[in-house]
Amino acid sequence: MSATVDFVGYETLVDYIDKHRLCRLEGDIIEIGAFVGGGTVKLAKLARKYGKKVFVIDIFDPTADRTATPDGTTMSDIYLAFLDGRSQYQAYSENTRNCDNVVTIKEDSRKVKFPSNQQFVFGFIDGNHQPDYVRNDFLLVWDRLVSGGVVGLHDYKSELPEVTRTIDKLLDDKKREIRNTVEIGEKHIILITRK
Ligand SMILES: C[S@@+](CC[C@H](N)C(=O)[O-])C[C@H]1O[C@@H](n2cnc3c(N)ncnc32)[C@H](O)[C@@H]1O
Repeated sequence: MSATVDFVGYETLVDYIDKHRLCRLEGDIIEIGAFVGGGTVKLAKLARKYGKKVFVIDIFDPTADRTATPDGTTMSDIYLAFLDGRSQYQAYSENTRNCDNVVTIKEDSRKVKFPSNQQFVFGFIDGNHQPDYVRNDFLLVWDRLVSGGVVGLHDYKSELPEVTRTIDKLLDDKKREIRNTVEIGEKHIILITRK
């Protein structure tokens, strides 16, 4: 993996934010799970045009997520293989060094709290894949998402069935607050717009 690449293909997210003019709304962008910041750089470039910040939450510990695919491969195995001995945080810091609108929160996402006046127009969740984290991370963004804002989650209908089940439960729990959902099947992304 070259240093600035992202796993997801954030161009899809940037296009979606642009097409739906989300940056015209009042608030910032948030990313939970940045890995080495390849996607962060793309979000930051877009956000900068509109005077917005990108808040990044990542624990920067490639051993933290032991969630496994059905064949037993853990997320940690995948991250360590990509890093090939490099420090995740160092790679992230180098990749994002020119992004003056990025606020990095190097923390377990369950410990993060935002002030009540912090609002988001777009959030992307691709952090720890355990159900309690998926739920925590979704609510962390959803509770601060403006009307018309969008939260995207990765790994929907992927090799991680617990992630899909958790997202489906959240969709049901929050159905009265959801305007619409869009799936990008080939990328295992679901995008959820707040009423
Ligand atoms: C799949 S990677 C993110 C990939 C990134 N979205 C991309 O496309 O390049 C998941 C990230 O979640 C982070 N992570 C794992 N557990 C976490 C936790 N408890 N809190 C915050 N971040 C966590 C890992 O450090 C890793 O960088």
